[in-house]
Amino acid sequence: MTQHLVVPVRPALSGEGEPDARRRADWWREAVIYQVYPRSFADANGDGMGDLAGVRARLPYLRDLGVDAVWLSPFYASPQADAGYDVSDYRRVDPMFGELADAAGLIEDAHALGLRVIFDIVPNHCSDQHEWFQQALREGPGSALRRRFHFRPGKGENGELPPNDWESIFGGPAWTRVTEPDGTPGEWYLHLFAPEQPDFDWDHPAVADEFRSILRFWLDLGVDGFRIDVAHGLVKAPGLPDLGVHDQLKLLGHDAMPFFDQDGVHEIYRSWRPILAEYSGGEYGDDRIFVAEAWTPTVARTAEYVREDELHQAFNFQYLATPWEAEALREVVDLTLDAMRPVGAPATWVLSNHDVTRHATRFANEPSTSTQIRTPGDRELGLRRARAATLLMLALPGSAYLYQGEELGLPDVTDLPDEVRQDPSFHRQNGQDGYRDGCRVPLPWSGTAAPFGFGPAEGGPSWLPQPPGWAELSVEMQTGDPTSTLELYRSALAIRAEHPALGAGDGVDWLDAPEGVLAFRRGAFTCVANTGSAPVRLPVPGRPLLTSGAEPVLDGGTAGSGTAGSGTVEVAADTTVWWTDR
Ligand code: NOJ
Repeated sequence: MTQHLVVPVRPALSGEGEPDARRRADWWREAVIYQVYPRSFADANGDGMGDLAGVRARLPYLRDLGVDAVWLSPFYASPQADAGYDVSDYRRVDPMFGELADAAGLIEDAHALGLRVIFDIVPNHCSDQHEWFQQALREGPGSALRRRFHFRPGKGENGELPPNDWESIFGGPAWTRVTEPDGTPGEWYLHLFAPEQPDFDWDHPAVADEFRSILRFWLDLGVDGFRIDVAHGLVKAPGLPDLGVHDQLKLLGHDAMPFFDQDGVHEIYRSWRPILAEYSGGEYGDDRIFVAEAWTPTVARTAEYVREDELHQAFNFQYLATPWEAEALREVVDLTLDAMRPVGAPATWVLSNHDVTRHATRFANEPSTSTQIRTPGDRELGLRRARAATLLMLALPGSAYLYQGEELGLPDVTDLPDEVRQDPSFHRQNGQDGYRDGCRVPLPWSGTAAPFGFGPAEGGPSWLPQPPGWAELSVEMQTGDPTSTLELYRSALAIRAEHPALGAGDGVDWLDAPEGVLAFRRGAFTCVANTGSAPVRLPVPGRPLLTSGAEPVLDGGTAGSGTAGSGTVEVAADTTVWWTDR
């Protein structure tokens, strides 16, 4: 990297110097929330799989990074058919991740460091090993337990055809036929994802009761909120109508589907919201939150999930899927802010997570509407753009989510051998889709040999192999290097926490800018993002605070010396610069 920061020094973020925002009940309106994928974060017991003790031990790293909260992907009892999103017992920690005491200890330690903790809840489906589903299978057709799922007789003369034409998100039909207790082929059950993930029927009151109880179970343990998996999927259109088309996966996110984003889901969230209120009145007031994973056709539909009496945040996947192009970005930012303003919810920006190709690799390739990219592309270009995209995101009003490893500038690992891949979708689609393992490779922390401090022993295992070059990208290597991506994130988060114009808000003031450039003001702060492939010259917008790449160049020299002035400044290609009036 040749890029460097204008402001290499960041204020210390210790427990005592903690910004006030972390203590406010509405902390989430501007929070930066870091996603931990427990399988791949840190492995304390050396079995090659990350665990809660590993997360706990690394919490000070997250505090020092400057995030406000941590969201953990599922660590509950699970056969791991979908990396933990197939839960067999919602109140138990899977032994591979530890035990309940580890979860409780993690919350306690995080709180002591001033970090909030969000757990993942998976209400659309469970594991086929869940006690209810197993009992439903044992009891046969007509069993009361079968009504908690979507069991149906098949079509065709002998019930040999699925009940409707819905396709699984992971490939193949969304229905699997069971063998009844007497050994005959019997009913079919619905699974929008893998066959090992039967969908609950949310019309059944026992399902709703159970989830209210599960929420309370974790709230009693002290958790600060929940990320709701497939929040858009719980309610299916009455009668489970056919779609009438194939390749339904291609319609997701654009078209209305009978199994996603049905109006009925909102009633569920309206019934959940008061549960959090029961836990208000603690030190910080009514401060626990829900964040929805809701893939909807439009930002306007997403906004419905965050109406005042529903959820607090919903990931902005339209933003995540937008290429690194000024015009498209400006449009999605405007659409988002316009959609969120009337419901009074913060925008919730995100660039990467455990389901999509890391943004350093997405931006290294030709713009694509797909979030699963299989080629490494131009690594240097991808990283330059990723750093610029991150500074742009962190300058926008609202909350932002970071995915573990993006602060190290990690690329996706696009060349994992087929035999190590665990994404169920990869196997169900014969390798045509399902490349999510590439963003799930365990993090490099330190040292020169794999697993690079992910596990305790050099040469020890990791559930997915790390590329040998990752020694260069480790936390240890990047710490203290002012040109590193890690130090860029640390500086950005420190400035964001300190600058009065950053964080919460519901609008930006766009400035005139050359083609390919986004420029906006927020109070005494200006953000300029040059998405083009050539440098641009602009009137000096203030004193430069931070750059994702090369330092901006004033008419008479670099702008890094810190004086705002008249004249013009050059901002490099694929670079975002933050400026302040003060
Ligand atoms: C969304 C999760 O993020 C993803 O990892 C999972 O495969 C599906 N939901 C099914 O639970």
